[in-house]
Formats: sequence, structure tokens, C-alpha cells
Amino acid sequence: MSWPYMHQTIQHASDGTPLYLLEKNQFPNWLQQQDAFVKNWLKNTQYEGRGLTLIPDNNGELVCALFCGEDLQSLFASADIAKQLPPQQFTLCCDTELELNAAIAWGLSSYQFDKYKKVEAPQATLALANDDIAQQANNVIQATCLVRDMINTPAGDMMPEHMAQTVKAVAQQFGGTFSQLVDEELLEHNYPTIHAVGRASVHAPRLLDLRWGDKQHPKVTLVGKGVCFDSGGLDLKPSGAMRLMKKDMGGAAHVMGLAYLIMSHNLPIQLRVIIPSVENAVSANAFRPGDVIKTRHGISVEIDNTDAEGRLVLCDALSEACNDKPDVIFDFATLTGACRVALGTELPGFFSNDNQIAQDLMAVGEENDDPVWRLPLHKAYRGLLKSDVADISNCASTPFGGAITAALYLQEFVHKDIPWLHFDVMAWNNRNLPGRPVGGEAFGIRTVFDYLAQRYSA
Ligand code: BES
Ligand code: ZN
Ligand code: ZN
Repeated sequence: MSWPYMHQTIQHASDGTPLYLLEKNQFPNWLQQQDAFVKNWLKNTQYEGRGLTLIPDNNGELVCALFCGEDLQSLFASADIAKQLPPQQFTLCCDTELELNAAIAWGLSSYQFDKYKKVEAPQATLALANDDIAQQANNVIQATCLVRDMINTPAGDMMPEHMAQTVKAVAQQFGGTFSQLVDEELLEHNYPTIHAVGRASVHAPRLLDLRWGDKQHPKVTLVGKGVCFDSGGLDLKPSGAMRLMKKDMGGAAHVMGLAYLIMSHNLPIQLRVIIPSVENAVSANAFRPGDVIKTRHGISVEIDNTDAEGRLVLCDALSEACNDKPDVIFDFATLTGACRVALGTELPGFFSNDNQIAQDLMAVGEENDDPVWRLPLHKAYRGLLKSDVADISNCASTPFGGAITAALYLQEFVHKDIPWLHFDVMAWNNRNLPGRPVGGEAFGIRTVFDYLAQRYSA
């Protein structure tokens, strides 16, 4: 897939049919100020200040649309209306502090993955008079659409070489640099686990590296699990569990969405994005249960299960991330089914060696309607990763606490003095919710972005 792959954006314009957004309790006041026709129309259509209604003139032409909601401060409160309105341009009329959220929600709910399918109906469009807000909303919409597009694209069209093109295109869009190590180069530059996981695929494994920003600024490094398809390897997944595994590069998509937000808002940081990009495939040269691999860090790892491949590709990437001593590391990964059992599919779990950042993130997440939930790096479970023949096993001896043992495995490769946050995400909407259509989804990136924007303001 080439990027940019255009989606609907919010226009900067002041012409269009007015769309009024009101808190439910503002409705009586608003109604007072309307003429007799509008008052009668709303009375006779039994509109009582809840949800969406369309108001015509006496020729039957649409004059305006009105939406009254319960809690319009919350991001997705008005998200459904983009799909319900007729295909015209609307201009948003509401309190200024509601504009940004309403515009973001509009853009996110208008998303359609139409690369392989003709879409039937034209959609309504939204215009904002305030260019600044339109721009900010579009940054969030584009970043989220990038995440969704990357995840929704079938694995056959989102293999490591395609992902490399996408990362390169986004780097170029913002004047960043892109480099990569491909196949044997991974061994030459000492990334043994990434090569081992990816070597069975005809799509050669890669390490993708994006750099952006002023070298004077504090360094922030993002690491994303880019398993383009997770068959499970020789420990093959059953068909039900394999069906959605095109999304196993969701972590890579998340860090690209986050990078898009950081670069488009021009945050004063020096950004590095590291993505191990592989297919966990089956073939005669696939890595095996019982193999021992010496990692980039120097620790040896025994492969207990080839389906616990995410932590393997991440461990070499995290070692590299620590090498240039960033201020903070964030990694995103569709790492464990266990995290979904713990928190469900709609709440991402995260782990951190830094209590202050963890606490701040939870608070920012609440404020942003993009919640994240901290899980413990419970040291006592480290013993579950013991191996008889190597320094560590890639899989715990019990499935219980699987998200924790996976995070503890990763922690072995992170320098203890570098603040690190590891997000275990679903990267997929299993059900339709306002603004969140079934399919690939970004979780937690607005929260991390807002945290970074607050911490590193220009
Ligand atoms: N990609 C999966 C994890 C996953 C599955 C995330 C479903 C979200 C939804 C990962 O590579 C994996 O297979 N993990 C195993 C680990 C186990 C073998 C220790 C899992 O979670 O079952
Ligand atoms: Zn797996
Ligand atoms: Zn996986």
C-alpha cells in the first residue's frame, strides 16, 4: 500500500448547511430563539432535544441540522451523525471547546477501508471556520487512518517490503530519514532474533528505522511489533486464532500513527522509530521449538513456542533502542491474547518501569477518552521464564498472567535507567461503536501523544 492513501478530511471553509451541536440542557434556550416555523416543526415532529434532526424551510429545502447530546465533551458523543446526514457540506456551529472533538469524531466515523471494495453512498462532509482546529483535527484523523489502513490491508499487500515503503513515505512527508536492514544484513548487524523469526518467509525480514527532528531536542524512541502475519510458525495457530493475524503488525501501525502525530505537530523532540518487520511463516528453514538463539543483548533465549514471536523480534529492537540512551521508550505490540482476557479488547494494557510516567499517562488517557490501564511487572513471575538450557525461555511455563510474563521477558532487554512503557494492544475493533468501525484501530496513541506534547512543549 502506498501512503498517503486519501481519506476524507475536515475542510477549512465557512459555507455549508449549519450543523448545530448542543448539550441537551442548552436546547430549551436555543428553541426560544427560533422562529415560529422551526418551533412548530420541532413540536410536530416530536423532537425533544435528543439526537439528530433535520430542519427544512417551507419549500422543503434543508435549512440546518441539529444534534443534542448528553455529554458532548466526550470524544465520540456526536460521532454517529456523520453517517446519518445527507451528502452535503455542513458547517459546525457549537461552543469552541467542542469543535475539535466533534471534528475528530466526524473524521474517525467517516472512515471506510475502500481499497478493495466500491463504496455505495457519497458521504456528508464537514467544514470548520477555524483553520487551526481543522488542521489539528486532520492530523489526528490522518494519523488514525494511517494506523487503520496499515492494519486493514491484507497481509499479502502489507509484507515487510510494503511496510518499508509506507514507513519511508511517511518519513519523507515530514523531512525525516529512513534506513533499513534487510535479510542477511540483520545477521551482519547482530539482530539474530528478528532474522530467526522472519527467515522462513519468502518476504525477507527487515529492521525499519525512521529518524526525525532536531538533534538538540530530547530523544524519544518508539518501537513497534511488525509481524505482518502470525501463522504461529511451526507451533501453528488453529484456524480461528489465525484468522485475524494480518493485524499482528498493529504495534508497528500504532507507532507510525504516533510518529505522524508527533511530526505533524512538530513537537520539539528527536524521534526515532524502530520496527522489526517480519512474517512468522512455516517452511523447512523455520526456527523451531527447542532452538536456542543468542540475542543482540547477549542473553541466550530458548524457543519454547514459535508463536511467542513478538517478544523475540521486540527484544533485539529494544536492545538497539536502549543503545542511544533515549529520554523514554514506548513500545506497542499485539503481544498476547492473555492481555485481552485480562482487560477485554477495547482497553489496552501497559507496563512501565517508571511510576510517575505511568500515573501521568493514566490521567491523560481519562481526559482524552483514550484510556490505558497499567498492569504490574510482577517480579515474582520472572521465575516462570526459566530455561534449563538458556538464560531465558521465550514462553512462561503457565498461560496464567501471560501478558505479565511477556512484559517481564521484554524488561530483560531494557536498561533499568531508561523509562520504558510497553503497550499490549488489540489493534482491532470487534464491534461497531460510534467513531470506531469494525476493523483495524488505534488504541492509546492520542494519550501518548498528549502526554508527550505536555512534557515537551516548545
Ligand atoms: N500475536 C499473538 C498475540 C495475540 C493474539 C494478540 C490474539 C491479540 C489477539 C502472539 O504472537 C501470540 O501468539 N501469543 C501467544 C503467546 C503464547 C504462545 C505464550 C498467545 O497469546 O497465545
Ligand atoms: Zn504468535
Ligand atoms: Zn504475534
